Amino acid sequence: MAPQDRILVTSALPYVNNVPHMGNIIGCVLSADVVARYHRLQGREVLFVCGTDEHGTATETKAIEERLTPRQLCDNYHEIHKRIYDWFNISFDVFGRTSFENHHRITQDIFRKLHANGYVIERDVEQAFCPRCEKFLADRFVHGECPHCHAKDARGDQCDACGKLLDPLELINPQCRSCGASPEKRSSKHLFLDLPALAPQLAEWVKGQAKLGAWSQNAITTTQAWLDRGLEPRAITRDLSWGVPVPLTGYEGKVFYVWFDAPIGYVSITDQADGVDWRSWWQDPGRVRLYQFMAKDNIPFHTILFPATLLGTGERWTMLHHIDATEYLQTEEGKFSKSRGTGLFGDGAIASGIPADVYRYYLLINRPETSDTTFAWKDLQEKLNSELLANLGNLVNRTLKFIAQYQDGTVHEAVLDEMALNFREWTVTEAATAGTELEACHEKDALKRVMLISQKANAYFQEQRPWKTRTEDPEGCRRAMFVLANTIKDLSVLIAPFLPETSRRIREQLGLAQEPRWSDIGTLSVRGRIGTPEVLFTKVDDKGIEAVKARLAESKAGDVPVARKPLTIVAARIVEAYRHPKADKLFVETVDFGTGLRTIVSGLVGHVREDDLRGKTFLFVSNLAPATLRGVESNGMILAAQGKGAGGEDVIEPVAVTAEPGTVLVGAGAGQVTIEEFAAHEIATVAGTVHLDGTPLAVDGKPVTTTKVKDGKIR
Ligand code: 2FM
Ligand code: ZN
Repeated sequence: MAPQDRILVTSALPYVNNVPHMGNIIGCVLSADVVARYHRLQGREVLFVCGTDEHGTATETKAIEERLTPRQLCDNYHEIHKRIYDWFNISFDVFGRTSFENHHRITQDIFRKLHANGYVIERDVEQAFCPRCEKFLADRFVHGECPHCHAKDARGDQCDACGKLLDPLELINPQCRSCGASPEKRSSKHLFLDLPALAPQLAEWVKGQAKLGAWSQNAITTTQAWLDRGLEPRAITRDLSWGVPVPLTGYEGKVFYVWFDAPIGYVSITDQADGVDWRSWWQDPGRVRLYQFMAKDNIPFHTILFPATLLGTGERWTMLHHIDATEYLQTEEGKFSKSRGTGLFGDGAIASGIPADVYRYYLLINRPETSDTTFAWKDLQEKLNSELLANLGNLVNRTLKFIAQYQDGTVHEAVLDEMALNFREWTVTEAATAGTELEACHEKDALKRVMLISQKANAYFQEQRPWKTRTEDPEGCRRAMFVLANTIKDLSVLIAPFLPETSRRIREQLGLAQEPRWSDIGTLSVRGRIGTPEVLFTKVDDKGIEAVKARLAESKAGDVPVARKPLTIVAARIVEAYRHPKADKLFVETVDFGTGLRTIVSGLVGHVREDDLRGKTFLFVSNLAPATLRGVESNGMILAAQGKGAGGEDVIEPVAVTAEPGTVLVGAGAGQVTIEEFAAHEIATVAGTVHLDGTPLAVDGKPVTTTKVKDGKIR
């Protein structure tokens, strides 16, 4: 068998419907990036694959909330994810999407093989059906009172108040999320993956691979617990429209469960990479070693469900070699939450003014490798000042500045004395250990070792006292600088997987033109002219940290900051409103803008009736770029407040005004805006008065008000 010299690295495909937070960054993408970069330094062929996981109920629900089609929602958020990972310098070879056609095709092919091999069973399932919407409701599309803690607004899959997993049919007074009707029980056909039939093969594979691939302990424990409990057939289809269609007669209108198709995304996204033959990576177990990174809640999908899917095809797949599952990163206030405003998210990190490598360092040195850890600003500040700056930054800067100032900017070759030889030898041994740690994905230990080398180099600088030997022992001084410059070169290689930008800057300052390679560690190749020394890190004091926190608090929950382009908000009268022929949540309206009639599509079904709209005047954004929603072009957007009504129920209230159609409230003559640019504004009703970016809106000096929703977001 040829050696497994090709390294395939995946990081869990993030759900597309949100902005990633620091826990997501360290949990998968950053951890995977370190290992991908390390293997590249070793000269191995690496393919690092990731992308957005775009299907599932959460996407559909979020799209309804944001009044977009799932496709538009995914397009927007895919870009947001991409921008954040780019900023963090994550070196994906491909960052793809599961909503692409090739993903549908590959998923369906795999399914057909499972089906042909007899691993798919059919069962009838009792499910919630909405008689008004005339469709089966996904668990999250039903809400009602929790049977356990009696919280009023529990979701059909889980109660957020008590955390219990639910079946939507257990809810007290269940309601359809879209129309409020009470769902009934009906039976629907679904497909199940026959895990019991695959269990013996799977258990045998786990037994061998967990040891061989040195799986993280949490992965071994969780997987074993699943196997010990005994596997049951697992449903792989859902009654939804957004997803991979099930290619089987009798299953029209159903799609695959998102956790069935998501892991197949690794394969199809590989196929989305330019000039890459996915089979050469995914169907060549003799040559490829697969490393998969994720947070611990993803474990069973990667050690049970996905391997079972691959085994069931009867083909030869590159199966999981090493799984690396992190525990959780917490915030100082508990869990990360955009809506509650707790924790740092990717957009905030970009806006904070703190460089990406500082976050990378902090997240990696604080990596929740074997237990949960906490992201704390004070701790970040301390690690930046006393580790990055006082240790690594100081070593590089004092050494290179000394060479620039007293040695003509030149590293002179020198013969090593015993002390120098010992120090170099120690460095090489430590570096090798860091390498061993990285082979095992023990990133935190590896990074600590790298920092230890830097610390020892600082001590060596002190012991050598170059400020003295410069005049008293010039030969000794040159030797010390020769040793230090080469140690810094070693550090530039060792730090590269963790802090790629810092590595690049160190090498630039050393005057090194070539890319770092692991095999350069321990050589004495640095000699001759260096570049210009510059500080690597800037100290952040208490005030600085407070300022960052204040800036972030101000920017609040929302999307990645985009330049705020002016919105034009006008009053316009709805002449006609009727149900969209192809979408049950949407109305199509003919609206008089004073300057002419326009067609507008709004997701208000279930919240207002056609008669509440006809003949009435509301506020509209009139400069939104046209968008086609399920085949109907919409030329603007009605503004509606979202929040709780007097009785605590969810209400969506279009903002009504008394004004002539065509009355402009703000932004006369502004150019078109995209939906993202629109979302960069904050429109809200505060104590019943409508505000745009903090300023109340008014017609003829009278404030625009809402009547049902007193405090809420306006979209
Ligand atoms: O937990 C999550 O964010 C999932 N979207 C991870 C999917 S990983 C893979 F299977 F696609
Ligand atoms: Zn309904």
